[in-house]
Amino acid sequence: MLAAADFAPPFVREDAGLADSGIARVALLGSGTVGQAVLDRLHCWRGTDRGAALRLVYAANTRLALRDSAGLDPLLTKSRLVDAPSAASGCESGALARALGSRGVRILVDASADGGVATRHPELLRAGIHVATACKLATGTSLALWEEIGAACADSGVGFGDRATVGAGLPLLRSIRELCAGGDRIHAIAGIMSGSLAWLFDRFDGTRPFSALVREARNAGFTEPDPREDLSGEDVRRKILILARAAGFALASEEVKVQSLVPPELATLPLCQLDEALSRIDAPISAMLSRAREQGRALRFVARFAPGRASVGVEAIGAGDPLAGGGGTDNRVAIWSDRYANQPLVIQGPGAGPQVTAAALLDDALGLRAAALARSWNGSGFPLSRE
Ligand SMILES: NC(=O)c1ccc[n+]([C@@H]2O[C@H](COP(=O)([O-])OP(=O)(O)OC[C@H]3O[C@@H](n4cnc5c(N)ncnc54)[C@H](OP(=O)(O)O)[C@@H]3O)[C@@H](O)[C@H]2O)c1
Repeated sequence: MLAAADFAPPFVREDAGLADSGIARVALLGSGTVGQAVLDRLHCWRGTDRGAALRLVYAANTRLALRDSAGLDPLLTKSRLVDAPSAASGCESGALARALGSRGVRILVDASADGGVATRHPELLRAGIHVATACKLATGTSLALWEEIGAACADSGVGFGDRATVGAGLPLLRSIRELCAGGDRIHAIAGIMSGSLAWLFDRFDGTRPFSALVREARNAGFTEPDPREDLSGEDVRRKILILARAAGFALASEEVKVQSLVPPELATLPLCQLDEALSRIDAPISAMLSRAREQGRALRFVARFAPGRASVGVEAIGAGDPLAGGGGTDNRVAIWSDRYANQPLVIQGPGAGPQVTAAALLDDALGLRAAALARSWNGSGFPLSRE
């Protein structure tokens, strides 16, 4: 685990040549499904301009930290991190900050799922380290943390890349920000934002119990190992918070009304007892399906935001609804704004999965580097020279 000292300002002498070269130093946290896909992508980039732009100097999970200022080999790093025994203790205090140094473009790629790391993003940003994250816990939970991250970016002139947090890189946050930058006010956002819940409701036609589909989705890796994390709606709450906040609304977590599909008696069960009790979710969901069908509608798990109103839960959607369509694990999001007042902008596509998420993280890392270099060239930012 990273200690607070991991984020302390570095104190060792660093390679000034690298700092001045425009090559970004990158630290990766996490070697789970997303972290491994990041390392695979970095491996594929070897020998290309993209590969030369980002130098992986630090990579860690909770069991092992690896560091090399000359650049870590991505595939070797992947196998060492994945195979690290749980007893290994490689996370030397201050290692992340020392590996990144104190000059030049420095980027943390956060592919951990750790709230402790997320709460330290402001500290890193204030130390001049850009952050690209897939973890929703930084900007999709407490309003105070979201505000702190914004203030840290503004004060230190560094960037926070969040395109992997919602829709795994689908152009959702980007579109909202571009509409706002162009003078539009966002009127409303609605979407199917959970790949697992999209798959479940797409497949649920009443021929099999909903709980059987949940087991199938879990076995196929569409849900978290504990499917209650998906069924509770909490993950979708974080996503609508991130989108609404990107649209300029300081929405607090408790302002989003969430309909959980997990009955209270299941919420506290140990995971090992869940399978046996899962069929208790079936009756209410079957009743919802019958009602929806009487109206010629289909069930979907939908997040909605409009100023003053935000909700997450099951809805009966008619064929003409902007959220109808799509299939499988697709995300589908509709955005209403001044220019899209009557007919919304609709964005649809694969919104989960390690490869698209890793691609989004590295798109952000490249973008953060490019923006930092552009600032240095016009004399307003980092002590860098062109590569
Ligand atoms: N999977 C997707 O399709 C997807 C899509 C969008 C966003 N995301 C987000 O991406 C993040 C990663 O997802 P995942 O599926 O790869 O998760 P995962 O498989 O559970 O992997 C999490 C990784 O983070 C490491 N980790 C946890 N705390 C850490 C710390 N303090 N320092 C360093 N490493 C730490 C873990 O270390 P150990 O290996 O030692 O346990 C593990 O390697 C999550 O926030 C998730 O919500 C995932």
